[in-house]
Amino acid sequence: MSIHGKLVHLRAIERGDIPTFVRWFNDPEVRAYLEVYLPMSQAAEEQWFEQQLTNQSSHILGIETADGKLIGNTGLHAINWKDRKAELGIVIGEKDYWGKGYGGDAIEALLTFAFQQMNLHRIYLHVYAYNVRAQRCYTRCGFREEGRLREAHFHDGVYHDEFVMALLREDFLKRLG
Ligand SMILES: CC(C)(COP(=O)(O)OP(=O)(O)OC[C@H]1O[C@@H](n2cnc3c(N)ncnc32)[C@H](O)[C@@H]1OP(=O)(O)O)[C@@H](O)C(=O)NCCC(=O)NCCS
Repeated sequence: MSIHGKLVHLRAIERGDIPTFVRWFNDPEVRAYLEVYLPMSQAAEEQWFEQQLTNQSSHILGIETADGKLIGNTGLHAINWKDRKAELGIVIGEKDYWGKGYGGDAIEALLTFAFQQMNLHRIYLHVYAYNVRAQRCYTRCGFREEGRLREAHFHDGVYHDEFVMALLREDFLKRLG
């Protein structure tokens, strides 16, 4: 089973994906936009994968193109069933695929699943102020900026602001028309 977008589909992650994830998360250009800052080992990623198998508060899916190439992953973290909210994370690890609509399409597919199948109410995320591409992508998917966390992120010797963005179920349904 996979979740279908227009350009991509989202599928379960597998052990065989781990070396690809390690390559992405050790690429300085990719990690500049992510929370990870220590070099990532294959062993650490294997341990993370094993934890994911039983983690009920976090679900990660691989992003595949129509021809079956794994280009990224996306998921919901800190799933809270009382408040019906979760934090969205995404990485397109294959840089050649940045800025071509794949990330936005993956997010739309994940949002449809989160609101229409998982019955969540609020999806939120954190994004660094210098990550303009991600902000544009999130805005196009219907996320609204809710706040600015001043100097919350230290990167390359400088403090940067971080934005909180979110999308409610009602915003999502309005966009469907
Ligand atoms: C953030 C990310 C998931 C977005 O996916 P994507 O496929 O690149 O995004 P899309 O092509 O769907 O949308 C990108 C938007 O930014 C714009 N854009 C593209 N390149 C840009 C650039 N260098 N600077 C600013 N905006 C840019 C595009 O025009 C598009 O906006 P539009 O729809 O208003 O025209 C992906 O770039 C990525 O994984 N980046 C590295 C990791 C990361 O930042 N993860 C998110 C952490 S919060």
